[in-house]
Amino acid sequence: MASSDQGSSGAPKPVPGSYGLPVIGAVRDRLDFYYFQGQDKYFESRVERYGSTVVRINVPPGPFMAKDPRVVAVLDAKSFPVLFDMDKVEKKNLFTGTYMSSTSLTGGYRVCSYLDPSEPTHTKVKQMLFNLLLSRKDEVIPTFRSNFSSLLATVESELAKSGKAAFNKLNDVTSFDFIGEAYFGVRPSATNLGSSGPTKAAKWLIWQLHPLVTLGLPMVLEEPLLHTFHLPPFLIKGDYKALYNYYSTAGKQALDMAETLGLSREEACHNLLFATTFNSYGGLKVLFPGLLANIANAGEKLHERLVAEIRGAVAEAGGKVTLAALEKMELTKSVVWESLRLDPPVKFQYGHAKKDLEIASHDGVFQVKKGEMLFGYQPCATKDARVFGSTAREFVPDRFVGDEGSKLLQYVYWSNGRETESPSVDNKQCPGKNFVVLVGRLFVVELFLRYDTFTATVSTELLGASVNFTSVTKATSGPGS
Ligand code: HEM
Repeated sequence: MASSDQGSSGAPKPVPGSYGLPVIGAVRDRLDFYYFQGQDKYFESRVERYGSTVVRINVPPGPFMAKDPRVVAVLDAKSFPVLFDMDKVEKKNLFTGTYMSSTSLTGGYRVCSYLDPSEPTHTKVKQMLFNLLLSRKDEVIPTFRSNFSSLLATVESELAKSGKAAFNKLNDVTSFDFIGEAYFGVRPSATNLGSSGPTKAAKWLIWQLHPLVTLGLPMVLEEPLLHTFHLPPFLIKGDYKALYNYYSTAGKQALDMAETLGLSREEACHNLLFATTFNSYGGLKVLFPGLLANIANAGEKLHERLVAEIRGAVAEAGGKVTLAALEKMELTKSVVWESLRLDPPVKFQYGHAKKDLEIASHDGVFQVKKGEMLFGYQPCATKDARVFGSTAREFVPDRFVGDEGSKLLQYVYWSNGRETESPSVDNKQCPGKNFVVLVGRLFVVELFLRYDTFTATVSTELLGASVNFTSVTKATSGPGS
C-alpha cells in the first residue's frame, strides 16, 4: 500500500510547533523525552498536538551541551528522505545531532561521520572503507560462521548450566572479535588488548553518547551527570590509546592503502578505529539483539519456515553457506529488512538546510529557512501507516517478499538512505550497508542451521533489545552446520 512520493497538497505553509521559553522549554522537553514520556511518545504526542508530521520541536540534550536544541522534525516516510538529499542538506559536525563530542575523543580529528561530502577528506576516508570492505569480502562468511557458531556453543553450555543464556553480553564479545578478524584478519582478543576490547569500546561509546541516553538511574543523578556537561575525555585516554594500538598494528595493510589515497597514517587510523568501533561494533551491538528479539517473539511457525528455506538453499549449494545460497533465501532476507525497518539501530538523523526549502509531507508542503536544523526520528518514518498499512507497527516476516513486497524497500531507511540506493563518496549513506545486511542474514542462517526452534525472553536496555535464551531445540534434519 505504498503511497506516492510525488505530489503535495496546497500552498506552502509555515511549520507548526513550538519551542517554548528559552532554556526552560528545552529542559522541560528533555525531561519529557527521557523520563515522563519516553522517545516514541515524545515525538508521537507532538505530531498529534500540532496535527502535522513536519513539526517544530526541541531535541535533547539541550542546555548546556547543545548551542541550539530547536529543529524542524520530519516524522513520516515522505518528508524524511529530504535528509538524504545532499543538494538540500549539509551534514557537517552533526552526526550526534545538536551537540558534538570533543575531537580529543578521536585523536584530534573530525572523523568521517562528522564530515560533509563536500569536504575532500570525506571522499578519501569513505573510499578507504569501501576498499577495505571489498578487499575482505571473501573472509566475511567463514569468519562470521566460526565466531558465531562458537557463541551458540556457549549459549548451549550456559543453558545446560543455568537454564538461561544472556545473549547481549556474548554478542558484545563475539561481535568485537568478529569485526576485527573480518576486517584485519586479527582477533583483538589474541593481541595485547586481550579480553578488554569490548569494555574499553563501550566506555568510549558512552563518552560520546551519554547526552542521548538514560542509564535508568534516578533523574536527579542522570541530569547533572549525563545530560548537562560533557564527561571529561582525559578519563578514557588510556582506553582509547589501547584500542588505537590494536588498529595501528592489525590494520597495517589498510593503512598502507589509505596512504595511497592521500591520507596520513594517523588520520586514517583514527578513522579506522571510529568506523570499526563506533559505526560497526556499535551497530552490531544493537542489530543482532533486535533481530533475535523479533525472531524469538515471532515464534515456532516462523522458525519452521526459516528452517525449511535455509536448509533447502544450503543443501542445494552442496551443504555450503554461499552468497548465491543467501540470495535465494527470500524469507530470510525479508526478516532482516523487516527488523531493520521496525527497529532501526540508529534512530536519529540530522542535516542543516543548505537553502530555503519546501518539504512535502503526506498532508502538506512546509517552508524551511536556510540554516535551520532538520531532524528525523527514523522509527516514526519507517512505521508510517500511509506506506506500511495497518500492520506498520507489527513485525511481518514476509513483508518484503515478492515483487509487491520489494516495492516497499525504498521506504527502509536504516542506512541513512533508501534500501534501493547505494552509498557513495558523494552521499552520507552508510558504507557498511551491504555488510550489515549480509551479516544479518548470516545470523539468521547460523541460528536455523543449528536449531529447529528456540525460546527467549526479551526486554529493553540502553540502546535496544536485551535477549535471554531460555531453550534451544537442536536441528533434527540436515544439512546442519
Ligand atoms: C554512517 C547506520 C554499520 C560505517 C551511517 C549512518 C547511519 C548508519 C544511520 C548515517 C549517519 C548520519 O550521517 O546521520 C549503521 C547501522 C549499522 C552500521 C545501523 C549496523 C547495524 C556500519 C559498518 C560500517 C559503517 C559495518 C563499516 C564501514 C559508517 C560510516 C558512516 C556511516 C563511516 C559515515 C558515512 C559518511 O560519512 O558518508 N551508518 N551503520 N557503518 N556508517 Fe554505518
